[in-house]
Amino acid sequence: MPTVHVFDHPLIRHKLTILRDRRTGHKEFRELTRELAMLMAFEATRHHPVTEIEVETPLERTTGWSIAGQEMAIIPILRAGLAMEEGITRLIPTARVGHVGIYREHDTLLPVGYYAKLPPDIAEREAIILDPMLATGGSAAAAIETLKQQGCRNIKVMAIISAPEGIAKVHGSYPDVDIFTGAVDSHLNEHGYIVPGLGDAGDRLFGTK
Ligand code: PRP
Ligand code: URA
Repeated sequence: MPTVHVFDHPLIRHKLTILRDRRTGHKEFRELTRELAMLMAFEATRHHPVTEIEVETPLERTTGWSIAGQEMAIIPILRAGLAMEEGITRLIPTARVGHVGIYREHDTLLPVGYYAKLPPDIAEREAIILDPMLATGGSAAAAIETLKQQGCRNIKVMAIISAPEGIAKVHGSYPDVDIFTGAVDSHLNEHGYIVPGLGDAGDRLFGTK
């Protein structure tokens, strides 16, 4: 069953509202994006397997837990996904990072891939694709396809805001890919922007407009 996990944690809802605010400048926007990714990763990894280990405290030997199962790969979509990556690698510092460069062609809104550099053992890893915006879903679908072609089978998408159109696009082609998102907004406007959304994530993050 295709799964969409919408976060309802108060901290996520609070920070996402500040992110949406048109008055939020790029310094705060970057910090909030980083923090939101960190909070979302905390929830998205809730069911990751752990293994029992022994640990010796200053007082005695006891049982503890260590992360087990598949190793992780974090895949930010350039450029806006980069700010999310910073948040997640603070939480999971051993994760490998693969970069996929994709932009939306202005008129057609179709994804154009211009870069891909993935960990060589990506087929063995659990991959989390990062992009603040899941709009038409074209960019996420192109990133998923790039990973699948390299043999990766365990793929998740993490987006701060999603449009229903983007979720339908990803799950229409890849029902096995779980989506984790901070909000599912109303619709896309005629320019392919999420409404109400937050505007252009890349421009707001990097101050390019
Ligand atoms: C934005 C955003 C996503 C994409 C989402 O990137 O960061 O990657 O649009 O749209 P989609 O779901 O319709 O594909 P953009 O094309 O503006 O590129 P940029 O990050 O380089 O600015
Ligand atoms: N990309 C963005 O940055 N914002 C949107 O609303 C849609 C695509």
